[in-house]
Amino acid sequence: MRFEGRTAIVTGAGGGIGEAYARGLHAEGARVVVADIDGDGARRVADSLGEGALAVTVDVGDPASTDEMVAATVEAFGGVDHLVNNAAVFGDMELAGLTDVDLAYLDRVLKVNLLGVLHCVRSVAGPMAAGGGGSIVNQSSTAAWMGISGFYGLTKAGVNFLTAALAHELGPRGIRVNAIAPGPTLTPAFDRQVPEAFREPLRQSLALKRFGHPDDHVGPVLFLLSDEAAWMTGHVVAVDGGQITRL
Ligand SMILES: NC(=O)c1ccc[n+]([C@@H]2O[C@H](COP(=O)([O-])OP(=O)(O)OC[C@H]3O[C@@H](n4cnc5c(N)ncnc54)[C@H](O)[C@@H]3O)[C@@H](O)[C@H]2O)c1
Repeated sequence: MRFEGRTAIVTGAGGGIGEAYARGLHAEGARVVVADIDGDGARRVADSLGEGALAVTVDVGDPASTDEMVAATVEAFGGVDHLVNNAAVFGDMELAGLTDVDLAYLDRVLKVNLLGVLHCVRSVAGPMAAGGGGSIVNQSSTAAWMGISGFYGLTKAGVNFLTAALAHELGPRGIRVNAIAPGPTLTPAFDRQVPEAFREPLRQSLALKRFGHPDDHVGPVLFLLSDEAAWMTGHVVAVDGGQITRL
């Protein structure tokens, strides 16, 4: 029960990996804000968790909306200790290259996947610091390191930069910032996004020869959020079955 008495916000927690994060935190005693642009998904997850869970509908691409999310959290639970920036445009993402993606669409993806992380951190930093500090985990992707995933990879490379920069900016206020970079993980969004023909070669490219499951990410995220990682900040940790090896 590493999170007894703590409050955590998980964005994009209305399904997929974010739902697993919300469940993992709640199981270890945290009060959890299940935040998602998909309000029905957020309510489904929060209702199934029961006491100590609150559903909030948020658009992380809109700073006024992330301020409201944090205000609702403080009103319900008295403060906020942890934030997981998991929300992103991923599952129904348009397939286009950097040179031909519709610019209005690119703008929206940058607003959600990249600036959304910053909006949530800016909204949460004041209350988190006022409560004595806390910890944040951003959701990156191995795509950030692969150079082949176009604008999606661009947003996740930006998340890696934000992780390092925010760790330095918020460290003096007692707030740690790290990131997880998942490899290919079996979620409904992955099913919609990754064509059948790509799957077997992709699976074979992993050292462990199996795709990830949302629960594979829960232990690493809880570790990074917890006091066990009290002297870790600014890192991006690959949780990817050995897809990426960096020496
Ligand atoms: N599944 C994978 O293979 C994989 C691999 C690497 C990284 N990731 C990352 O992990 C995270 C979760 O992925 P997933 O597979 O569970 O996909 P997912 O699409 O189910 O999760 C994204 C969640 O974010 C929510 N969301 C989208 N836009 C939002 C917005 N503007 N405001 C608030 N919420 C919003 C969606 O409703 C959804 O619940 C994403 O950041 C994704 O980029 C996934």
